[in-house]
Amino acid sequence: MTDRDAVPFDLASMRKQYRAEGLSETELAATPVEQFARWFKQAATDGGLFEPNAMVVSTADAEGRPSARTVLLKHFDEQGFVFYTNYDSRKARDLGENPYVSLLFPWHPMARQVIVTGVARRTGRDETAAYFRTRPHGSQLGAWASAQSSVIATRADIDGAYAELATRYPEGEQVPVPPNWGGFRVAPQTVEFWQGRENRLHDRLRYTERSDGSWRVERLSP
Ligand SMILES: Cc1cc2nc3c(=O)[nH]c(=O)nc-3n(C[C@H](O)[C@H](O)[C@H](O)COP(=O)(O)O)c2cc1C
Repeated sequence: MTDRDAVPFDLASMRKQYRAEGLSETELAATPVEQFARWFKQAATDGGLFEPNAMVVSTADAEGRPSARTVLLKHFDEQGFVFYTNYDSRKARDLGENPYVSLLFPWHPMARQVIVTGVARRTGRDETAAYFRTRPHGSQLGAWASAQSSVIATRADIDGAYAELATRYPEGEQVPVPPNWGGFRVAPQTVEFWQGRENRLHDRLRYTERSDGSWRVERLSP
């Protein structure tokens, strides 16, 4: 790598002026999930986003060491935000030791982000099975083939495992739900809606759950 390759862009001068309309307290929905539903609909219809349901899930292990990765949101309702993964993965091991989690939706083309903090719990087996059956056959096999987050020697190892599974469960045959695969539901405790504004004077409105289950809204300085 030459020096020129190392700095392909002038990152310090890369900045956009956000002209989007603001977000005010009066227009917010009663619950953060309702507000999320409004923004998600906009993100999914005219947000110019490739995968609006892609979110960054941050976890920390028992010692507080953080890690983050992208996953797909597969369901949300007043109970929380659901994603599916391997229960032996690094993120799932973290959540087993420390259920506090953060979800971040980076909706850059809309100059928006939503940040959820909360507590993750595994979904029930019935809910997991119902979702697993909606996945394409290949993705169902992929869930079996991958011991997610473990070190493997070569690409051929995983391709071989997949080919074996494809012979055992040809297209059209029902694939059982892997025992170490399933969902996490993140019950929100805070949800911040961030709207980029001009001159870096962004709007940030954060819902925080009260002990009686109702929500307090506060404005944060950008
Ligand atoms: C756009 C995108 C979507 C992804 N969706 C998922 C997902 O829904 N579930 C999942 O387990 N991994 C998903 N991944 C892979 C994760 O980012 C990650 O590599 C994997 O879950 C292992 O993470 P871990 O070792 O930290 O547990 C996705 C990656 C990208 C880039």
